[in-house]
Amino acid sequence: MSLKEIVNMDLKYILVGGKGGVGKTSVASTLAIALAEAGKRVLIISTDPAHSISDSFDKDFSKGEITKVKGVVGDLFALEINPAAAGDEISKSIGQPIGTDQFSQFAAIPGLGELQQGLGQDLQSIPPPGMDEALSFAKILEYAEDEIYDTVVLDTAPTGHTLRLLNIPEFLDSFLGRMLKMKTFLSNAMTMMKSLFGGGQEKDRTVETLEAMKEKVLVARDKLMDPEQTQFVKVLIPTMMSIFETERLVEELDQHLIPHKFAVVNQINPPNDQCSYCMHRNKEHRKNIKYIKSAFPDTIITEIEALDSEIRGLKMLQVFKEKLL
Ligand SMILES: Nc1ncnc2c1ncn2[C@@H]1O[C@H](COP(=O)(O)OP(=O)(O)OP(=O)(O)O)[C@@H](O)[C@H]1O
Ligand SMILES: [Mg+2]
Repeated sequence: MSLKEIVNMDLKYILVGGKGGVGKTSVASTLAIALAEAGKRVLIISTDPAHSISDSFDKDFSKGEITKVKGVVGDLFALEINPAAAGDEISKSIGQPIGTDQFSQFAAIPGLGELQQGLGQDLQSIPPPGMDEALSFAKILEYAEDEIYDTVVLDTAPTGHTLRLLNIPEFLDSFLGRMLKMKTFLSNAMTMMKSLFGGGQEKDRTVETLEAMKEKVLVARDKLMDPEQTQFVKVLIPTMMSIFETERLVEELDQHLIPHKFAVVNQINPPNDQCSYCMHRNKEHRKNIKYIKSAFPDTIITEIEALDSEIRGLKMLQVFKEKLL
């Protein structure tokens, strides 16, 4: 069995992840091309503000809209989401900002310090860190739920950030809880202020919106746990640093019940007896690959050598694809 299987598995989601710079975007782009060539309608999404899918395909997908990838056989579409822009868009759609502005009004309220102490939580950072990511993940789910695409390939940010997204329901629960407590506390003050300044009866839909978002993420998380629908492809390089990070990643994936049957060991130094550096690196890499195989016995491992040039543009992606699949 090899990574080739993934093309015929009829998966709805393929997530590609690993340490920074190991080859996630190259693998994600290549898989997306292979799936499209196999007749699937594919959407590749990245939330990397550095716009790496554009670089990988050597095209511009940075406008924040779904763009058909020209030059690929079949139906491949790409989207680069800018987390900040996604937040703005969602805020617009619910008619009010879910940003720092909205919460800054609370900061000036007398007694917030007491409330903070009372709740025993750090309310200094409202919205809490991760809100941007939560919003862009919600955006991704919107596209992923779309029946238009057979498979959604997600080029994830380096390890850590991705899995944080899976905690969004719990994160929102605690966030919602805190908001509700705050609302109760503030309601008296608000009523008083309104009677003083004659403010209108504006309906605050933030909590409802966050509730809806949480439901969405819970539904998506179920899909992400289903091996018939989802696979997380671990990408690593044969260095101990990358292996340790992958071990941590596997722990987290298991904890969240995300299926991860495949791994790509990328950038292996080929042997070359004319070059002592290459021989040394190759020996080290072979030893580490042995370790990888014993550390991840249930994983289908695909090994790929370091090519002599960068993987950029459709031509190079095809070369990489021949090796990968
Ligand atoms: N097997 C390989 N041979 C040669 N170059 C490679 C190989 N794999 C990846 N590269 C190159 O290494 C660089 C990093 O690859 P890529 O952008 O795919 O990694 P990434 O994991 O997505 O990085 P980031 O964490 O920054 O998003 C790119 O320039 C890519 O072309
Ligand atoms: Mg990348």
